[in-house]
Amino acid sequence: MKNIIVLGNWKSNKTRAEAKAWIEGFSPKLSMVPQNIIFIICPAFHHLDLFLSSGFTQYLGVQDVSSYTIGAYTGEIAASMLKGVARYVIVGHSERRKYLGETDEIVCEKVKQCLAVGIVPVVCVSDVLEVQKLKELVPDFVTRGGMLLYEPLFAVGSGQAQSPEDANNAAHKFVNAMNSVKILYGGSVSPDNVDGYTKQEFLAGVGVGGASLDPEKFYNLILKASSVA
Ligand code: PGA
Repeated sequence: MKNIIVLGNWKSNKTRAEAKAWIEGFSPKLSMVPQNIIFIICPAFHHLDLFLSSGFTQYLGVQDVSSYTIGAYTGEIAASMLKGVARYVIVGHSERRKYLGETDEIVCEKVKQCLAVGIVPVVCVSDVLEVQKLKELVPDFVTRGGMLLYEPLFAVGSGQAQSPEDANNAAHKFVNAMNSVKILYGGSVSPDNVDGYTKQEFLAGVGVGGASLDPEKFYNLILKASSVA
């Protein structure tokens, strides 16, 4: 049976009360997440404590990390500070590239910080040029466990997902550019379309934004994702 990665990205959403309500809603389902699903949830940093005290420790990721080590970098959270807290980091999301000026060089510095402390970087890419740059600047990305999250820009948060076949073709190109890297598809994934992606040859799973915000909807998406594996 194929293992499927389902990564939820809350982005800049949820008050404290809303985060608690989500955890209350999802917790009863946690033990029923199918065996073939590798489930990852990435809330905002300040909600991590709620997850850690509610049995989610092994499933946690975050949405960003510093490109620097620890030290005098006000406001930053270094990769080594995340050890024992989060196992995954989303790096270089297109929203950060667009609104916060993240370049390929910054993204690769962040990736190196993650790899140095054994945290899995999940690097967001929208085209093969970004993949090639990553390969050039971090040649051991794949062998050290890094993954890609392929998100075509038009599909992010738009409700207009790319077709599973086109996503698979793009992933095929990335696999060729970066031998046997694990690739997730992201961009308007929902419970209604997720199985189209999870059955594709070159996709190892999905990244989910909007549809991860509701615990019931996200759990249904997970069940759908697992059923085709
Ligand atoms: P979306 O976001 O599912 O809301 O389109 C995907 C993402 O940006 O990870």
